[in-house]
Amino acid sequence: MDWGMNNRMAKLFRPDTGRAVWLAIDHGYFLGPVSKLEDPGRTIKPLVEFTDALMLTRGVLRNCVSAQIDIPVILRVSGGNSIAGPALSNEGIQTSMEEAIRLNASAVAISIYVGTEHEHETLMALGQLVNEGQRYGIPVLAVTAVGKELEKRDARYLGLCCRIAAELGAQAVKTYYCEDFGKVVKACPVPLVIAGGPKLKTEVDALKLAHDAIKEGARGVDMGRNIWQSDNAVGMIKAIRGIVHDGIAVKEAIKILEGSKQKK
Ligand code: R5P
Repeated sequence: MDWGMNNRMAKLFRPDTGRAVWLAIDHGYFLGPVSKLEDPGRTIKPLVEFTDALMLTRGVLRNCVSAQIDIPVILRVSGGNSIAGPALSNEGIQTSMEEAIRLNASAVAISIYVGTEHEHETLMALGQLVNEGQRYGIPVLAVTAVGKELEKRDARYLGLCCRIAAELGAQAVKTYYCEDFGKVVKACPVPLVIAGGPKLKTEVDALKLAHDAIKEGARGVDMGRNIWQSDNAVGMIKAIRGIVHDGIAVKEAIKILEGSKQKK
């Protein structure tokens, strides 16, 4: 890996732990104003100090985030679909590499839709992005998207998606936690981080998810709704940080969560 690429990867994954807590706030690119993310600037204000990187679109970055912010940006560069449209998988690159460099992005992110009618286009777009990323030293994060079909999230399907993403050159892959997640990790030669998915029933469920994913080999989380849709968002991100970077047990993480509630 070239120096620039290495340096950006070292900003994304903390060199002392090799792990990462990224905050995903890119949902609006196809979901519009998701609950608790209507005003992204406000949502992230208390959370940024506990975040290793922010994942977002250029529109939110330019309009809602101060240029003085001191954390790396993972720029979502794919889009062109919406929850109201006929096919969520119909997604392509809509923000150029030149724009990513102009915005000082530390990585770019793109969704791939394996097994859908747009599989080929999204995989070709990943290849194109990796070619451009290699030219300029920008890592590519491939997101194994499932659209509305959340039931697709099993080790066989996610293992297929993650391996393909790595084979096509992605420097990191974001996927979902699933049963037998360790198998997905073992068969993927690049770092895997997990998304949280729609908000789980309880905060403890989300902490368990993060804990199990790390235990089975995930290199971090790129979570959104299970953090900022919580009434105790700061407690959640602090607890998840403990799990990811300090390797604490769920019981300890719950203490951090509860402690943060009392301080409110
Ligand atoms: C899809 O909406 C985005 O790629 C999100 O960044 C991703 O799903 C992570 O957010 P969450 O933890 O809310 O699923």
